[in-house]
Amino acid sequence: MLLKTVNLTKYYGNFLALDKLNIEVREGEIYGFVGPNGAGKTTAMKILACLMNASAGEAYIDGISIMQNPAKAKKLIGYMPDFFGVYDNLKVDEYLDFYADAHNVPKGERGPLIDDLLRLVNLADKKDKYVDTLSRGMKQRLCLARSLIHEPKLLILDEPASGMDPQARAEMKFILKALKAQGKSILISSHILPELSEMCDRVCILSRGKAVVSGNIDEIMDTMGRRAKITIGFLADEDLQNGVAVMRTNDLVGEMVREGNNVEAVFNGTDEDISKLIKAFALSDVRIVSISKTVQSLEQIFLEVIGNEN
Ligand SMILES: Nc1ncnc2c1ncn2[C@@H]1O[C@H](COP(=O)(O)OP(=O)(O)OP(=O)(O)O)[C@@H](O)[C@H]1O
Ligand SMILES: [Mg+2]
Repeated sequence: MLLKTVNLTKYYGNFLALDKLNIEVREGEIYGFVGPNGAGKTTAMKILACLMNASAGEAYIDGISIMQNPAKAKKLIGYMPDFFGVYDNLKVDEYLDFYADAHNVPKGERGPLIDDLLRLVNLADKKDKYVDTLSRGMKQRLCLARSLIHEPKLLILDEPASGMDPQARAEMKFILKALKAQGKSILISSHILPELSEMCDRVCILSRGKAVVSGNIDEIMDTMGRRAKITIGFLADEDLQNGVAVMRTNDLVGEMVREGNNVEAVFNGTDEDISKLIKAFALSDVRIVSISKTVQSLEQIFLEVIGNEN
């Protein structure tokens, strides 16, 4: 396990911002931290990047305790903050050289390293431009390059694609996948689940400082019961009345909404359960003319998960 947290907890004064977080990031995987604004993503990441103390709990990077041995742990981590500051009239290569120097990268190695990194983040042609003249998306990619300068094993990226247009987001994803292919492990945060789900091996959904659910996307969908909605069309009003009575006796049927001769209902069962429901209609002489099922999207599930917590 490359990263492991044990009951990681953070109070700001009396406010509990992170409540006994337990996550494990495996070597070579992309792990997503998803949650709405204020969920505690940045708090957790700042602690893991050794920039802030936890109130309680432990965290280990490659077996090294970040509490006992932060200097050693820090060398293994590349951190990209959610906001980055002033650039003091530096050119792109000077900027990276400054950080390379701060990380004691030998002078002779810096040039080729910086060229490699700029190529990776698609900024090779901006090498001698002033950082201030870069677009927001370019600055974010430069910041990613900066977090890689000391060749860390684990990247901690706090919303690296925030504020980017769709093309820039796609480019960022492509770069992160390339990094994974190079063997890097990545912890990445976002408040958009579908955006992370495609790229992440596993995710943890945070809400109000608590991990609500975690695992790979399929496991999470299973935990959430792959909730679906079914819409049933009844032939006549009497069929609808009797049909609703049948559905009320079925534990898998949730909230129902009537529209004309149709009923839309939350359904927590499998396809086999739907066929049983159809059989139950037939046994009660309920005449149905149509039935359709829509599975909830990842985003709907996410909203439901965090909604229940709020
Ligand atoms: N320095 C601080 N002092 C007091 N409270 C703080 C501090 N930093 C964060 N908080 C609070 O802790 C909670 C978690 O904040 P955090 O920034 O970790 O959330 P986040 O998941 O990163 O949110 P966002 O999606 O907006 O970036 C919030 O309620 C926030 O107001
Ligand atoms: Mg944040």
